Amino acid sequence: MAARWTPDSWRSKPIVQMPEYSDQKVLAEVEKQLSTFPPLVFAGEARALKRTLAHVAKGEAFLLQGGDCAESFAEHSANNIRDFFRVFLQMAVVMTFAGALPVVKLGRVAGQFAKPRSSPTEKQDGVELPAYRGDIVNDTAFTQEGRTPDPRRQLDAYRQSAATLNLLRAFSTGGYANLSNAHQWMLGFVKDSPQSHRYEELSARITEALDFMRACGIDPKTHPEMRTTDFYTSHEALLLGYEQAMTRVDSTSGDWYDTSGHLVWVGDRTRQPDHAHVEFLRGVKNPIAIKCGPSLPADGLLKLLDILDPEREPGRMTLICRFGAGKVEASLPALIRAVKKEKRHVVWSCDPMHGNTVTANGFKTRRFEQILQEVKEFFAVHAAEGTHAGGIHLEMTGQNVTECMGGARAIGETDLSDRYHTFCDPRLNAEQAIEMAFLVADLLKKGRAGHARLLTAASGL
Ligand code: PEP
Ligand code: CO
Repeated sequence: MAARWTPDSWRSKPIVQMPEYSDQKVLAEVEKQLSTFPPLVFAGEARALKRTLAHVAKGEAFLLQGGDCAESFAEHSANNIRDFFRVFLQMAVVMTFAGALPVVKLGRVAGQFAKPRSSPTEKQDGVELPAYRGDIVNDTAFTQEGRTPDPRRQLDAYRQSAATLNLLRAFSTGGYANLSNAHQWMLGFVKDSPQSHRYEELSARITEALDFMRACGIDPKTHPEMRTTDFYTSHEALLLGYEQAMTRVDSTSGDWYDTSGHLVWVGDRTRQPDHAHVEFLRGVKNPIAIKCGPSLPADGLLKLLDILDPEREPGRMTLICRFGAGKVEASLPALIRAVKKEKRHVVWSCDPMHGNTVTANGFKTRRFEQILQEVKEFFAVHAAEGTHAGGIHLEMTGQNVTECMGGARAIGETDLSDRYHTFCDPRLNAEQAIEMAFLVADLLKKGRAGHARLLTAASGL
């Protein structure tokens, strides 16, 4: 029998990656205040996402999850949100059309503020200060004041999340996401982009398909699903005091939901089964995800699944694999086989970012080729194991930054300094993100062809 869970039962467990707040009184006041604020998402929406993810687990859909490594207070603007959403929609359209699979849209946004760090402190010119842990905790400025964790930042993170979510909801349902706008989204996309002809060709085909459907009497006026889209939010549930404050009982089901986002995940550094982060997540009914790095053995994964999903609820678990290019084959098959043997159904998603971080020219960066390589390896392993490569998890932005190397424009080491704006990890820029979407669409298409061949072979035709 599992011990009783309460929203604060994590507080009696060992915990890592938490900031040290010097003023506990202010912290308690902030958390109390947050707990009176309206939820950011509604439990019914989290349940809808869970149902959709159950389809992904069955191989009937694909999950696109992406956004900033860390959202920032300084870069909070309508234009940034619009540009992100536009690229995200473009990617989803590319994958839906070319891959012929429904795409579940899950932003890494409206709450992605807290960061785990490899070292609790940072040294510059002999001065040692606390590490930057995300805008919800402290400031990037390398000063004593900037780096001192301030609980009041949690209120700003809440307000920014609410404002971001409000705009995203408006975009999703207010007409912007209308499929017949595919061409218009394109307009904002750099015209001379090496990918623009591919995208233009695709949007012409979509327009043609829409014209045909309209002629058959099916159009966005009569079919709301063509003019709106379901867009969900997610973030790492790292700062547990904040997450606890946002955790509420859903009046319709009587269950606890973390209402700070639709899906929350536990990071690769905080997934110890007997620690606080896993304890917190086991009690909330949201769909949840685990980041799975090379240090997670198959039995460790099964243990986590037993704790986090004892009822084997469809759509509850997403496993986000982040091994690094060249390392997928060594780790993933064992995890897949263990999960299969237990007859569990999960969403397998690939984060090709976090296992491929390198330093070049003094910048933390990633090579597009390596990122792509990991995605290919992920698809190949799933094809070999007969499982569904169900999703992709990207750090990306709608801006034209130079943070990851390579891609069609061949960003090199010396270009990194041009527009390196990230507050944490390097992100794919708009063009690289679209390029990735085309590549994933090709892999999905190939996967489907392979699947069809297997079915034909199995039926003896
Ligand atoms: C992240 O997603 O930004 C992150 C820190 O990932 P991981 O937990 O996989 O290292
Ligand atoms: Co990151």
